[in-house]
Amino acid sequence: MLNKEKIDMKMLVERAKEAVSNAYAPYSGFCVGAAVLTESGKIYQGCNIENASYGATNCAERTAIFKAVSEGEQKICAIAIMSKAGDFTPPCGICRQVMSEFMELDAPVILGNHVGEIKIFQLGELLPANFAL
Ligand code: THU
Repeated sequence: MLNKEKIDMKMLVERAKEAVSNAYAPYSGFCVGAAVLTESGKIYQGCNIENASYGATNCAERTAIFKAVSEGEQKICAIAIMSKAGDFTPPCGICRQVMSEFMELDAPVILGNHVGEIKIFQLGELLPANFAL
């Protein structure tokens, strides 16, 4: 795993912010962007993609994670999340569970807001009892 001290958290938040502009959110109007850093050092961005059949919606975090995994990258060192909302946007429960499949429980989940602040959680703080087989 990449050394946590070497992760450029602000840069990852910027990449998440970029992805917000691709959000497809005509139903909720709530636009989210995420960026994941993989073990190889690559960054994958994702946005939320809604659907007229609401349950078929994919969150930004899962879009980014699934892009990484589908490119053969199963080790994710960090994830950053931004939205158009003024405040921090913590990930939903499904995304936390999906994160736990591909991230260590001490990996950083980095939230950004629009005044340039960041809030960092360890995944295990957000999901203290993940389901695992
Ligand atoms: N959403 C995300 O993309 N990530 C989250 O963690 C929470 C919710 C999206 C899903 C939906 O398109 C919109 O935000 C409102 O729920």
